[in-house]
Order: sequence, then structure tokens, then C-alpha cells
Amino acid sequence: MSKIVVVGSYVVDLTARTPHMPKPGETVLGGPFRMGPGGKGGNQAVAAARLGAEVTMVTKVGKDLFGEDAIQNFKKEGIQSEYVQQVEEESTGAALIAVDDSGENMIVVSLGACGTITEEEVLRAEDAFREADIILVQLETSMAAIETTITLANKLTKPVILNPAPYQKFPEELLHKVTYITPNETEAGLLTGVEVTGEATAQEAAEKLIAKGVETVIITLGKQGCYLQQTGENNGRLIPGYQVKAVDTTGAGDAFNGAFAHFIAEGNSLESACTLANHIAALSVTKHGTAPAMPYLDELHKQ
Ligand code: RIB
Ligand code: NA
Repeated sequence: MSKIVVVGSYVVDLTARTPHMPKPGETVLGGPFRMGPGGKGGNQAVAAARLGAEVTMVTKVGKDLFGEDAIQNFKKEGIQSEYVQQVEEESTGAALIAVDDSGENMIVVSLGACGTITEEEVLRAEDAFREADIILVQLETSMAAIETTITLANKLTKPVILNPAPYQKFPEELLHKVTYITPNETEAGLLTGVEVTGEATAQEAAEKLIAKGVETVIITLGKQGCYLQQTGENNGRLIPGYQVKAVDTTGAGDAFNGAFAHFIAEGNSLESACTLANHIAALSVTKHGTAPAMPYLDELHKQ
């Protein structure tokens, strides 16, 4: 069984379907509204747990209804929630999400409590880090949480996946401590200045990230799949994606990251972990919502 520590966000997702995205100042009559668990950290934790990983979540929520829901939900998913703190002084974060008829999304996320995770609060989970096979972190919490996670993982010589989402500036020297980085096209562009549109530009961006000190680069390319390149290789390769009918692409990157963490920790090769993660991400976009849309292992085998 793989053991994963996720240090990341939990927020409640408030999602409205819309025939098209509103322009500034426009009000659009939307379709159905859904509310459910979200946040990139929480979604990735659920994705890994549903595949059979033993997951410990490190995050912070408010002492409010959404915070209670968060804890109930982690328990229901079989995720270890000892380090999910509930605090009085902050409220649980929320994401306002619009999903249009093509399944594309726009998101504004207010981090609330999970944006205030301190160094001390991450260090409290050191025992869980020690027992883990791999550590997974995104950019959707405080910089203190992100830096402490990567530094602690390095100190304990644990591999660490940085999913640089959503993009925010961070100290570049951290990249030397990152085992796997998993940007999407947009994030790869913001990290390297290369506009990533396909295989050739993904390779250019991957080389820049390797030059900055990352060991393995995986650029997710939506339905095209992902581009994989390791230190020391002249060329990377495209690991093709799966074609499905998308109803909601929100959280596809999270499905990929949670799945990749699980499959690589289980000892699969990089190529197979990427192929399996592509498949899980594709299955996730065929369902509505984020965490609730994460596939189970048997759905992968049914295909
Ligand atoms: O990656 C999707 C997630 O990003 C959503 O669940 C939303 O909460 C935002 O944080
Ligand atoms: Na989905």
C-alpha cells in the first residue's frame, strides 16, 4: 500500500453551470448549482485514497459548518485527518466556480483558513512525513506551508511532488529540492516564459525547469496527455491521454496528481504512472464536481 502525505488546501466548491462564461459586468442565467468538497489539496488526497493509498491530509479549516463537513468528508474517504486543524479565528475557504457547456471552468478561490497554515503546523506532521513514501504539495496554501513541506521532505529524504497550482511566485531555490513538478500548460508558461501549446513547446519548458534544478518534469496537456522529461535525458516524451466526453474538467489536474502520487509510490515506472494518471484524469472529467468525481480503482480496471 502506498503512503502519501498531502499538504494543501481544503475549500468548499460552489459551482454553477452556465451556457457561456460571463463577460465583466454581465450576469448570465445559469443552470444547476452544486456545492461540495474541493480545494486542490483535498481533491488530490481523495483521488489517491480512492485508488487505495493510505493518505494523511495536512490542512486547516474554520470552526464552522463547512469545516465540520471537511472533517466528515475526509473520514468518509478514509483519509487520516489528525492534522486537519479546525480554528476559531478563520473561516473555511470557498471556491466560486463557473462551468460552461463545453465543460471548461473559471475559478476564484478564497483560501480562508488553509491560506494561514504556519511552519509549526506543518512540522507537527513530521511523524506522518517520516512514514510516507511520497509527499504531495500544491501552491494553494500559505508560502510558509509550501516551503516547510518541501524542506522537511528533503531533510527526511522523501520524494516530493510539487503541483505548482494555482501559480503564485515562490523562491526558485525550492526547485532544487523538488523531485517531480507537475504544471499544466498555463503554469509551465508562467514558470518558464515558454508558451506551452503542445509537445515541442512542452519540451522547451521542461528543459528550463530541469535547468532550474527539478529532477523530473511532467507537464499536463489536457486531453493530449502529459509530457515527461527527466534530468540527464536529451529528449522527453509525450504520454498520450484518453479521449472522453467531458462534462466537467474541474479537478482533472487534481485527479492526475493524486493518481500519479499513488502509482509512483506503489513502484510503477514513470511511464506507467503517467499513463495510469492520464486515465484517471480522463475518467474524472466525465463526472460533475471535483472531489466527488474522483474515480475508484475498479473504474480503471473496468475500462
Ligand atoms: O483544481 C480544482 C480546484 O481548484 C477546485 O476544487 C477549487 O476548489 C479550486 O481550488
Ligand atoms: Na469533474
